[in-house]
Amino acid sequence: MFGSVRALVPAKINLYLRVGARRGDGYHDLTTVYHAIGLRDEITAVVPAYDSDAIGLPTLTIAGEGEGELPLDDRNLAVRAAVLLAKRAGVDPAVTLSLHKRIPVAGGLAGGSADGAAALVACDALWGCGMSRTELARLAAELGSDVPFLLFGETAIGTGRGERISPVATGGRTWHWVVAAAETGLATPAVYAELDRMRAEGTAPPPAGAEVLERLLVALDQDDPAMLGASLHNDLQPAALSLRPALRATLDAGIAAGALAGIVSGSGPTCVFLAADAAAAGALATRLAVTAGCRQVRTATGPVPGVEVERASAIGSG
Ligand code: C5P
Repeated sequence: MFGSVRALVPAKINLYLRVGARRGDGYHDLTTVYHAIGLRDEITAVVPAYDSDAIGLPTLTIAGEGEGELPLDDRNLAVRAAVLLAKRAGVDPAVTLSLHKRIPVAGGLAGGSADGAAALVACDALWGCGMSRTELARLAAELGSDVPFLLFGETAIGTGRGERISPVATGGRTWHWVVAAAETGLATPAVYAELDRMRAEGTAPPPAGAEVLERLLVALDQDDPAMLGASLHNDLQPAALSLRPALRATLDAGIAAGALAGIVSGSGPTCVFLAADAAAAGALATRLAVTAGCRQVRTATGPVPGVEVERASAIGSG
């Protein structure tokens, strides 16, 4: 049991995303290779003071990305995560959550899902629930398709609607990425709906074949940057480009500026570029920062771990 817990959570990118048929529940069956990168949100969970209005409910404040825009009530996955964990663990959901966001909102980087994962881990430690990551992953799957992956991070294959995770053995190399965030976000359901529309109309390319995934896994295992660049694939990219044609110019600018490859991350509109090494990533980021349409350009390495509890002060220890 702690008086305060701080948790750090990474963003995800999808190195491979194959979108299958739309299911009866509205979700799509998918096969994806998730990859956690070192662009992190930070959440601090504190037991509220006894005279606080927060007794009996989580309260949330947000600084940074999405400040003043994102909901602070149970439409926010961090609040929903705290309420869900409290209910399952049979504890009082009173907690004060302070979120510092660096992951762009509605960017295809699972920023909202990351905050849900971070809140689960932080509240579990704060309330002394003692749940394992595997137990938390069951709750995470109820919060959203990407939430379980963010508990584990690294590189993993996701199946089902993305919530079934199995780790991918990689060669141990650190990959260097440049993350180009767009001026405004894209709503994930709208991008999936656009893919459905394009498929019905016959204008979407066929879903990625298994050989693309096999090549990607070999590239990861053999630490081969050129092969990894050639194997990056996202079935949602044509739908994101259809809704946001300007992303084509961003992708082209990244390649012209020396990226090994570029891809729309998940449902977009963030574009991620693979660079040969740290120096190349830095140079690429500098050049892309002046490209029209990019609100923010950052370098990030991967893979990195999932939610990490950075600092915890025990009650009474000062
Ligand atoms: O699971 P999550 O709430 O993050 O999903 C957000 C939306 O993305 C869903 O409501 C759905 O429209 C779409 N989605 C999908 N198939 C998936 C994952 C997400 O259609 N496998």
